[in-house]
Amino acid sequence: MSGALARLPMVTLKLATSLDGRIATAGGESRWITGEAARAEVQALRSRHDATAVGAGTAVQDDPLLTARADPPLRRQPWRVVFDRRLRVGPSARLFQSLAEGPVALITAGEASAFAALGATIIGCGRDATATAMLAALGQATGVQTVLVEGGGVLAAALVAEGCVDRLEWFRAPLLLGAEGRSAIGPLGLERLIEARRFRRIGIRELGDDIHETYVPAHA
Ligand SMILES: NC(=O)c1ccc[n+]([C@@H]2O[C@H](COP(=O)([O-])OP(=O)(O)OC[C@H]3O[C@@H](n4cnc5c(N)ncnc54)[C@H](OP(=O)(O)O)[C@@H]3O)[C@@H](O)[C@H]2O)c1
Repeated sequence: MSGALARLPMVTLKLATSLDGRIATAGGESRWITGEAARAEVQALRSRHDATAVGAGTAVQDDPLLTARADPPLRRQPWRVVFDRRLRVGPSARLFQSLAEGPVALITAGEASAFAALGATIIGCGRDATATAMLAALGQATGVQTVLVEGGGVLAAALVAEGCVDRLEWFRAPLLLGAEGRSAIGPLGLERLIEARRFRRIGIRELGDDIHETYVPAHA
């Protein structure tokens, strides 16, 4: 694949929110906002993507494993990826202690030899790298063509602002977390409504008590 001309991996952004669009309480608690059926669907989504990714905040706060659990088990696990320019996650995180289960990539500007020693793939980036540049580097280093980004809000906002989101999988649960809860999408710096990214809904269904909606960019 030639670097400059390589296609960016397609991004599916998955969010599990309250009715008022919060992904966690102010203290960062998010397990579990949605019910079992929605969480099973997220597992299926992981299996259908080449990679599952989170931002540094989620990697530190939730310590997720990000494996795709399927029955029968997948022959090959999708890549698990952390977007972490300033390297906040530690080598003791479950992701880096489970490398036998599947490959993990760390995209960072930090000194990551401890992670490489554990078997993780280190993808270098600048300290202020854009989400687009990081996605391009991920694609080039691993060959992944589809990425399921599972949050959190700050990484999601960067992807939305840069126009990198090709699909939204939005799971909405019937509870309210209030304004102090963490927003599904962090600040976008919009001043006018006309600047807002618009999406078109292409699917909606009930999953237990939750609603699962699928969107694509309005212009797609
Ligand atoms: N309900 C859900 O679906 C769900 C899903 C995920 C997380 N959560 C919750 O969300 C909370 C964490 O969310 P969060 O917003 O604090 O963290 P986050 O979005 O997971 O991570 C934010 C960090 O990502 C890093 N990052 C790397 N590349 C970036 C880029 N190009 N642009 C912007 N940021 C980039 C930044 O750190 P650097 O500048 O150092 O790179 C930034 O501080 C937790 O409470 C978690 O439980 C909920």
